[in-house]
Amino acid sequence: MSTTTTDIPTTPTPEELAEATAERLAGELSSAAFVAMVALGDALGLYGALHRLGPSTAGAVAAETGCNERLVLEWLSSNAGAGYVTYDPDGEVFALAPGVDAVLVHEASPAFLAPGAEIIRSLYADQARVEAACRGDGGIDWGDHHTCMFTGVERFFATSYRSQLVEGWIPAVPGLEETLRGGARVADVGCGHGISTALMAAAYPASTFHGFDFHAPSLDRARAVAAESGVEATTSYELATAVGYGGGPYDVICFFDALHDMGDPEAAIRHAASEIAEDGVVLLVEPWAGPDRATSLQHPLAKWSYAASTVLCTPCALAQQGPLALGNQAGPARMEELFRANGFTRFEVALETPFNLVIAVRP
Ligand SMILES: C[S@@+](CC[C@H](N)C(=O)[O-])C[C@H]1O[C@@H](n2cnc3c(N)ncnc32)[C@H](O)[C@@H]1O
Repeated sequence: MSTTTTDIPTTPTPEELAEATAERLAGELSSAAFVAMVALGDALGLYGALHRLGPSTAGAVAAETGCNERLVLEWLSSNAGAGYVTYDPDGEVFALAPGVDAVLVHEASPAFLAPGAEIIRSLYADQARVEAACRGDGGIDWGDHHTCMFTGVERFFATSYRSQLVEGWIPAVPGLEETLRGGARVADVGCGHGISTALMAAAYPASTFHGFDFHAPSLDRARAVAAESGVEATTSYELATAVGYGGGPYDVICFFDALHDMGDPEAAIRHAASEIAEDGVVLLVEPWAGPDRATSLQHPLAKWSYAASTVLCTPCALAQQGPLALGNQAGPARMEELFRANGFTRFEVALETPFNLVIAVRP
């Protein structure tokens, strides 16, 4: 006589739960270690060399880049372990895996994400400051971060700005492209290294662009970017806080990934309301965030977003001793509430991408 058994779901034991959690954390640790290898390869030009050379030995990559062969061999092996590089034991030959050049070699590619590793590097480099902030008032001045945060933010954001700002984000806001083509006065508030400012200036030569930021070294870099881009004639940069700039009325006021970093975002919004033309528009670009924390936590990049918010965005706002520290996951509902309470009447999410929200706000 045959017997049948029914699978009865069992609750995992504490030991099983601990084992699963340890496996999960080991995966995180392995990824974190590999991100350091991405930053290293990006800084030393190792990915570019492997791309130029094609399938190569560690010796050939070392010779091409002037790096130590023994260390290059270990670096290549880490990349092979992660699947970004292939390995042929016959002759110890390594090659970039298909698709990797678009993500780790070509700066102009819309998929170029290598500088993300520079930002992650800054999260570790600034750990001592973050510990002190956690034990204190939570503030870290924007200018106090490791230099790799500035270069990482510039280069990482540049990928989406280059491929999407003029091609996708601006056209998504009704009337904005026409305004810029016709010749508009534009303020880029919290412009940082001014990649967004220079790209818009290059695309809309009839308009003038005025970048404002409270971090002087960022403005030096923004001026250099404008010169490299050949847009010096239609761009200007001024050291000013988000409540301290003048020169309005502006047809367009932009906040690119900056409003949530400000210590008093409501005052910044009120100031924008006083500096904008009656028929003007605020172009607000924020990191993607859901309508509430529970939704934001479902996003595949949630752990990165909140980590950056812990180390970069929220401490920047807290260091300004304002009334609010929104964090980078403030979300569209909270932003709408703030704009409606401070002089604006129309708020429209024009576009959502995996990384960003593009929002148009009008008086
Ligand atoms: C994440 S960065 C973004 C920079 C640039 N908009 C971009 O997209 O690459 C935030 C910028 O906001 C600036 N910032 C923060 N608070 C500010 C304030 N209260 N007034 C002016 N600038 C501010 C910082 O100096 C920094 O350059």
